Amino acid sequence: MPFTASAAPAATIDELVAPYDSSKCADCHEDIHKEWQGSWHGQSIVDPRVLKTFRTFILSGLDKSQAKRKDLKDVCLGCHAPQIRDASEELVIKIGEMIVTAVDDKDAAKREAAIKELSKLNINCIACHNQYAVADGNPQPKTIYGPGKAKEPPHKDEFGFDTVKSEYLKSSKFCGKCHGCELPSKECPTLYSSYEEHYMAHGGKETCQGCHMKGEEYANHKFPGIYDKDFVKEAISIDITANTTEYVYHLENKIVPGVVVNVKLSSHSGHGMPHG
Ligand code: HEC
Ligand code: HEC
Ligand code: HEC
Ligand code: HEC
Ligand code: HEC
Repeated sequence: MPFTASAAPAATIDELVAPYDSSKCADCHEDIHKEWQGSWHGQSIVDPRVLKTFRTFILSGLDKSQAKRKDLKDVCLGCHAPQIRDASEELVIKIGEMIVTAVDDKDAAKREAAIKELSKLNINCIACHNQYAVADGNPQPKTIYGPGKAKEPPHKDEFGFDTVKSEYLKSSKFCGKCHGCELPSKECPTLYSSYEEHYMAHGGKETCQGCHMKGEEYANHKFPGIYDKDFVKEAISIDITANTTEYVYHLENKIVPGVVVNVKLSSHSGHGMPHG
């Protein structure tokens, strides 16, 4: 697993992803790897919602504007496939073509082949534990940044990687790099700005990780969200109280029994709901 900065821009998807290969991490972190693979981060291009919307953005957005398909690298792929930073212009254009094929091609075999190829692009262990793991955006190569809980990780002996503690990785700002926006929230409201302005500003204490990575023994890598029914259920509580009363019905000289119902609906989410 080299993952050093590559000298020449990658010309194929295999060349592009090789330096960021995290399949080896599964040898020892089997459970985390499985959780991650099933999470939206593990399918951040080939998730059908994303794939179809990328197709539409390419055909009805890029192709009909001044922009070019090579611009996909800067406008979409940086967050959805962080490996893209080493791709050549030709490869970015090829990836755009593959996305259109994966959704629109009449031949099912061609669609499947394109999806298989594109699934190599995702937000993997290296994206979070190296590429995005430090505040200044300049991580050291051959380094795994972690929460600093492990006593003696065997990374150095096994494959020559240092393990370095990163406080930033445990902060909400880390998630905000992709789930947020650099513009002021008035111009670009995001889930991260909702978290800061409507949760933290009103006394919220939890980090994104505290809710989304809560695990019994270790940090959960399934990243449950709005599509996980049990997770969503915990975030909504409904309190209903009813009291009996009576009132005078003026049109007729009558005392009528009544019920006063109080409904209190609370959100325990860390941001606006539903958002996604
Ligand atoms: C700043 C990082 C960033 C950039 C740039 C970005 N995305 Fe995303 N995208 C995200 C994140 C984070 C989510 C998950 C959002 C959520 O579920 O709240 C997401 C989700 C999506 C989804 C799924 C939404 C849904 O729930 O149906 C689609 C589709 C998508 N992005 C398409 C695009 C396209 C097309 C572009 C380029 C025009 C793009 N994205 C650029 C970060 C980014
Ligand atoms: C040879 C086995 C092995 C391989 C391969 C391996 N790890 Fe580890 N890793 C461990 C062990 C063992 C620990 C320590 C567990 C403990 O003490 O709780 C650890 C700890 C960690 C931690 C926590 C560090 C901290 O700061 O607490 C992270 C993050 C991590 N590994 C990521 C990775 C990633 C990413 C890969 C793939 C690039 C990887 N590991 C490959 C065995 C391995
Ligand atoms: C979307 C970002 C993201 C991805 C992808 C990701 N991690 Fe993590 N990981 C984190 C964060 C954040 C933490 C620290 C959570 C905390 O303690 O607050 C963490 C913690 C860990 C830990 C320490 C767990 C513990 O609690 O002792 C290990 C080990 C680990 N990750 C391995 C991996 C491996 C292996 C992969 C790939 C299969 C992976 N991670 C993918 C963000 C990510
Ligand atoms: C490298 C960019 C990146 C980072 C860093 C990142 N995410 Fe994401 N995240 C995404 C994208 C893109 C998606 C959408 C993928 C999809 O829908 O296929 C997503 C999806 C999710 C989802 C599922 C959304 C849903 O619709 O249910 C959750 C939850 C989530 N992220 C939480 C986190 C948390 C918590 C952190 C920080 C520990 C984090 N993410 C860090 C890019 C990122
Ligand atoms: C107090 C717990 C809590 C905190 C803190 C929290 N979340 Fe959530 N999050 C939830 C719950 C519960 C849901 C499902 C209901 C909903 O959509 O609000 C959710 C949904 C999501 C989703 C998927 C649906 C959507 O709204 O797009 C994403 C992505 C997400 N959170 C990311 C984050 C990020 C990034 C942070 C930190 C900036 C964060 N969350 C902070 C509890 C939390």
